[in-house]
Amino acid sequence: MIPLRGSGVAPSPASGRLAEHVRRASSEPAASALTADRLYRFFRTGEEETLALQGVSLTVNPGETVAVVGPSGCGKSTLLGCLAGLDEPDGGTVRVGGQRLSHRPEAERARLRAQRIGVLLQNRNLLPHLDVRANIELARTAGRVGPWRRGFTENLGARVMELLERVGLSTRAHAYASELSGGELARAGLAVALANDPDIVLADEPTGELDGDSERHVLELLRDRAGAGAALLVVTHSTRVVAIADRVIHLHDGMLTS
Ligand SMILES: Nc1ncnc2c1ncn2[C@@H]1O[C@H](COP(=O)(O)OP(=O)(O)O)[C@@H](O)[C@H]1O
Ligand SMILES: [Mg+2]
Repeated sequence: MIPLRGSGVAPSPASGRLAEHVRRASSEPAASALTADRLYRFFRTGEEETLALQGVSLTVNPGETVAVVGPSGCGKSTLLGCLAGLDEPDGGTVRVGGQRLSHRPEAERARLRAQRIGVLLQNRNLLPHLDVRANIELARTAGRVGPWRRGFTENLGARVMELLERVGLSTRAHAYASELSGGELARAGLAVALANDPDIVLADEPTGELDGDSERHVLELLRDRAGAGAALLVVTHSTRVVAIADRVIHLHDGMLTS
């Protein structure tokens, strides 16, 4: 169903575009990259019940950038967690490229995520006991198990260096998260999120703590990925991110208001 990844085709900057062409030419319908259908998520703490998501439906198409905005506590991170398969909705369905992601065993969700989704969580994208390079290698190879591994012959080291150069961190390959500045950490996290050439990129306030230059750099890299055909959903408070979005979704009390 997903012809390019693991097929032995050496990834290149144009690989996302190529993947999109191959997908379109295949029998897979030109479905939206990401679909959420009536997502519900409840949390219970003691006597208190929080309705974090109350029937959220959305789609993000290949190449599209969608910004999700809303006040603190309205459910943005909960939504992103469900879309990434990191969390399970209590009701509703998440699909990636037509495949159901929600309500599957965690290992299957993790595999699908490793193969198709890039997740960028604020300050939490690097495993602290691995250096930047090892984090990127892990993210690039994690989805390549079983049949996905067949014919996978790329020069991993060269690919990782290419990614590091793209995010401007070629001299920081052996640094650990604790040794990086805020801007470096954001770019390293982005390299990890993009390491598997994802069809879908989900980012939770990726530029929240960045200065103007770092924010611009991160946005450029995200937009490049969308330009290569990825569906991009960004939770944000930043007017700069909203300005580059094709569409803005407003979330309030776990419900979409537009
Ligand atoms: N693991 C959890 N346990 C209990 N309540 C939670 C949990 N995660 C989120 N919530 C609650 O769900 C609501 C939405 O949270 P969140 O998605 O983090 O909002 P946002 O990212 O928009 O600030 C909040 O009221 C929050 O307190
Ligand atoms: Mg949040």
